[in-house]
This record gives sequence, structure tokens and C-alpha cells, in this order.
Amino acid sequence: MAGVLEQLLSLAAAGTMLISSSLTTAAPHNDVDGLLFLQNRQWRVSRYFEPETLKASVPGQLQDMRADAAKALEEMFAACKADIGVTLKAVSGYRSYQRQATIYQNKLERVGSKAKADEYVARPGASEHQLGLAMDVGQKSDDVNLTSSFGKTKGGKWVKEHCWEYGFILRYQEGWEDVTGYAYEPWHVRYVGKENAKLIHEADMPLETYLLLLREERLMEIVLGQEEKAE
Ligand code: DAL
Ligand code: ZN
Repeated sequence: MAGVLEQLLSLAAAGTMLISSSLTTAAPHNDVDGLLFLQNRQWRVSRYFEPETLKASVPGQLQDMRADAAKALEEMFAACKADIGVTLKAVSGYRSYQRQATIYQNKLERVGSKAKADEYVARPGASEHQLGLAMDVGQKSDDVNLTSSFGKTKGGKWVKEHCWEYGFILRYQEGWEDVTGYAYEPWHVRYVGKENAKLIHEADMPLETYLLLLREERLMEIVLGQEEKAE
């Protein structure tokens, strides 16, 4: 880490401007249309951001997602049914800025404090649901849906173990609360594409940490590339 910083400083001292454009390409979390866009308390999208979505052909409600995510969801639900006989269902997919604002407000009124509401519901502009890449997954016996008990069900366990095979990551896992900023949500999956999901699953870390490492790795590549050119 310190090495990266030292090398960056020496590049800056050399007055190169190239690094700033390289930094932009080194930051997939900045690309709002990209699959690795980071959406959390710190990184938000505008109220006007509205992705193109379509309705995934799966049981449940509010099935809208971006096309690639919807297709992957259909594949995942079919695989779960074939594998363990559990019918998963969509509970909540794409949500507009306005819809998220209403959900946040309702939660706030129910729990009575912003601190408590913030544990479970993102503020408008901060939810992955607005990207059209997130789905809250449930199952038929919906008394467990959107509760931590979903993680103990056959379907919930299957989703945790297999979602990466279909391009999803389980975004808010137990023990990651301090990094993600949210309580454990065994139901919330985020589409990142199969390649990314495999790597993130293997890394077994929150998206925030993974993207930080990816950025460092890319920065290092840029720095080393610059050094090679200078030699
Ligand atoms: N429940 C997640 C954090 C959301 O509202 O997007
Ligand atoms: Zn969710």
C-alpha cells in the first residue's frame, strides 16, 4: 500500500497528466452503466438515473431488472428448482428513486429513528435497486421473506452457495455490516456478471473491499507501466 503511494507521488512530481485519465479507467465503481458500479451510502446516483428494465419471467412480484440481470435471475431460479425443488420468488427488483424514498420514509415511521432505518433501507439514490441490478429473493412460504430466517431455509442456503454461478453476489452478508453499512440481508442479491461474480465469490469479501483491491491492482499496473516507459 505504502509502495503504491510513494510511486504515485513520484509520478505526480514528474508532472504527468496521464495518470488522471488512467485513474478514471481504473475505477469501474465510477461507471454507472457498468456491472461493477458501487452503490452504497457514499456512492450514490442522481434522482434522474433510470436504467432500462424489463420484467423477469419468474414467480413473485416487482420482477423488473436490467435485461442481463433478469435473464440471469430466470436461470438461477430454474436451477434452484431443478437442484433442490425449491421455488424461489421475486420480492423486489428495480425501484425508482421516488419508490426508494417512499420505502425509506415508511421504514423510518415504523422504526422511529434514522439510525435504525439506515441499517436496513438505503436512502433514495443509494440503493442498488435503483440500478436495476438488485433483487430481493424470497420463497413460497413467505413468512420468512425479508427476514434473517430466509438465510436458514433450503432456498436461502442454496442462493448463498450458488448465486455466483449465475452472476450474482450476496451483497450484505453476516460479519460485513461495518463495511457494507447494512444489516445482514440473506435475500438481497446484486448482479455483477458471471466473470466478476466468480472472482468476488472466490475472494469472499464485500464488494467495497473487492473494488478497493481491484483499484489498487490497476493503479499498480498503471504505475509499473509508466515506469517501464520511462526506462
Ligand atoms: N435494503 C437495501 C440496503 C436497499 O434498500 O437497497
Ligand atoms: Zn434489496
